[in-house]
Amino acid sequence: MSEVLVDGHGRRITDLRVSVTDLCNLRCRYCLTPGDIEWLPRGQILRFEEIETVVRALVRLGVRDVRLTGGEPLVRKDLPALARMIARIDGIEDLSLTTNGLLLERDAEALVAAGIRRFNVSLDALSPARFAEVTRRDAVGRVLRGLDALSRQPGVGEIKVNAVATRGVTEHEIPAFVRFARSNPFQVRFIEQMPLGAHRDWTAADVLTGGEIVAMIHAIHPVEEVPREAHATARVYRFADGLGEVGFVNPVSQPFCDDCNRIRLTADGALRTCLFSHDETDLRGPLRDGAAPDDLARIIRDAVWRKELKHRVGDEGFRQPERTMSRIGG
Ligand code: 5AD
Ligand code: SF4
Repeated sequence: MSEVLVDGHGRRITDLRVSVTDLCNLRCRYCLTPGDIEWLPRGQILRFEEIETVVRALVRLGVRDVRLTGGEPLVRKDLPALARMIARIDGIEDLSLTTNGLLLERDAEALVAAGIRRFNVSLDALSPARFAEVTRRDAVGRVLRGLDALSRQPGVGEIKVNAVATRGVTEHEIPAFVRFARSNPFQVRFIEQMPLGAHRDWTAADVLTGGEIVAMIHAIHPVEEVPREAHATARVYRFADGLGEVGFVNPVSQPFCDDCNRIRLTADGALRTCLFSHDETDLRGPLRDGAAPDDLARIIRDAVWRKELKHRVGDEGFRQPERTMSRIGG
């Protein structure tokens, strides 16, 4: 249990994002196309037992925090059963979930009972029309009901609401999000849009930066910055009168690669050491070929050692990875 997993740049890796499916019940414009999508073949998706084996191997090597994600993770049948399997692994300190909330009303109770404490719920707009414009589905009411069900679960921990900022859309949502953050126990976080969508049409001009949004919020209600925690992706501000918090995840305007402690396991069993990796390491093959635990550990250590120094978003010559966000896991 005392092993440490480090990369070639001296960063300690303690955080794992596990994508459980590439399927999704939304079609966010910055992520997917509206029409037919080529989903991963069923047989390529890791079974729960396979996911558990990989997570156990990673925890033995030094991972402490696990986040379940997708696609949309609640689309995967019986997700609470997987959460239970992972929650009981010795050495895990934190188990969390990222979801778009559409199925939360159905699953909130089972997920919290399974041992998930912290939740990130994606919600890009509060106005029904803008939510539908961004996600291509008229479902903001469902997400809000899901959030409500979740927040009423006994034993639930911190709940964050994540909004991907899109220039031309999110500006109009700021006053509503300010009211929402001040009247609910959720930290509302704005995330700069990254070039990970199927349309491959991202430009820096689409990024409404965290800095711009802070200024807009400050003009409505003064905010003050809270000291940043180690490895935190977000810069957090609290309203000066003490009522509520907002966070800013600024991967484009203020990259936080320097103290990145994260790696990712895709639904089809690839280990990715960066959202923007061009090389990934197949773990499904070795797993299905019956690799011994030591062999799996060696493959993982080697892959982690080669973790990218930083992403090159915005640099000349930047190439978007093959996989879209829905196939990587947020
Ligand atoms: N840039 C930033 N965030 C994104 N997400 C999906 N695609 C992108 C992108 N291109 C977000 C989702 C969700 C989380 C899993 O990642 O909206 O909040
Ligand atoms: Fe689904 Fe998330 Fe992609 Fe939206 S961003 S389509 S919720 S995977």
